[in-house]
Amino acid sequence: MIYLDNGATSFRKPPQVRQAVLEAMERCANPGRGGYPAAMAAAEQVYRCREAAAELFGCQPEQVALTSNCTHGLNIAIRTLVKPEDQVVISGFEHNAVTRPLHALSAKVTVAGQRLFDWGNTLEEFEKALRSGPKAAIFTHVSNVFGYILPVEQMARLCRQYGVPFILDAAQSAGAIPVDLQSLGADFIAMPGHKGLLGPQGTGLLLCARLPEPLLQGGTGSDSIRQEMPDYLPDRVEAGTVNVPGIAGLAAGLRYLRRVGVENIGRRERTQAEKTAAGLTRLGLKVFSGSHQGGTVSFVPSMDCDELAQKLAKRGVAVRAGLHCAPLAHKSAGTLETGTVRVSFGHDASPGQTQQFLAAMAALI
Ligand code: ALA
Repeated sequence: MIYLDNGATSFRKPPQVRQAVLEAMERCANPGRGGYPAAMAAAEQVYRCREAAAELFGCQPEQVALTSNCTHGLNIAIRTLVKPEDQVVISGFEHNAVTRPLHALSAKVTVAGQRLFDWGNTLEEFEKALRSGPKAAIFTHVSNVFGYILPVEQMARLCRQYGVPFILDAAQSAGAIPVDLQSLGADFIAMPGHKGLLGPQGTGLLLCARLPEPLLQGGTGSDSIRQEMPDYLPDRVEAGTVNVPGIAGLAAGLRYLRRVGVENIGRRERTQAEKTAAGLTRLGLKVFSGSHQGGTVSFVPSMDCDELAQKLAKRGVAVRAGLHCAPLAHKSAGTLETGTVRVSFGHDASPGQTQQFLAAMAALI
């Protein structure tokens, strides 16, 4: 299979990840719940994951909260910064993981910057929206549909200048573009463990620069006499037993990234995305490409998107079609009616993948 759906999850993780999961299942009991060797081994695994993440993302190990996925982290961060009916600014490329929690809070949402690949427009609209005094800003680093890399350093600077706390959704950037909590000055950065970080599904990280509000209450193995959740990180948002095998796998993914280099992976993905966009354009398709684009390309085929994805699947090519859980991004790009077919490269991006995908496309259209 030519796997080009890394925007959904990375598939065929490095072998060390599977090995770490198996070892954790053999060696680890419940972390923080006992002083015997198997519980201590679990606690050590979990700490190693926080430590590896802290090193990669410019923060302290205790600022790394372990979540089930990026959506989980975003929900914690949003519930912390946004109260019912608050005014919030978001980009025009947000995922339902941002827009649905805001909708549930009846937040008054200003959408700033809906032009693809246009940093000037994004920054102009964003600054205009910040001037109206929102309670928080939330923006994605990279659009999951179009691969548009937003000017997040500049957006972060504007938030600091206007005193607006902000959340970065690093769902599509973590593992492909450097992300640093301290230098960005974000209040929270949420990311999945199972996409660019190469861990198993069911893992995620929330980097916290301030104390979050818990979504869940329960046992933490700490301060058990108190009925309030601990008022320190990361225990405050880690009620219940964490996913130790998943976390051990995620730690192995983080170690792999450190060895191979996030920038090298990002470059490899972008090179293939550029070649893919050029090849699809030569085939006469409507392709969304531009400067500031990561390893993801969307296009509108002449047939129905799902139908094309099915036909590609029969030829052994895996892509995602439709709205990609991001109707706002499609509205911004004018593809809400049709959806798009999305090709998203991962850590193993190679010229062979691009060639085989383009050959399958040429045969199908
Ligand atoms: N949000 C993921 C995607 O873009 C699942 O496919």
